[in-house]
Amino acid sequence: MIVCSCNVLSDQAIRTACSKAAPRTAGQVYGCLGCSAQCGRCARTIRKIMDEALSAAAACPAGCACAAHPKEA
Ligand code: FES
Repeated sequence: MIVCSCNVLSDQAIRTACSKAAPRTAGQVYGCLGCSAQCGRCARTIRKIMDEALSAAAACPAGCACAAHPKEA
């Protein structure tokens, strides 16, 4: 699902950025994905996805292969 229509960012792209870089702010998520906030309407949704992804990552055992820790291709 597209979360940010200005930068065409999907929820999956945000989850992947969280699993690789553990950003602390929505601004850092944009940076990880090579863009920046435009209108800002998506910031709250990005924050929610970040919170879900980072809390899921914290609850996983090392080496798991859940959605928060996709295996590298
Ligand atoms: S919808 Fe994300 S910056 Fe506009």
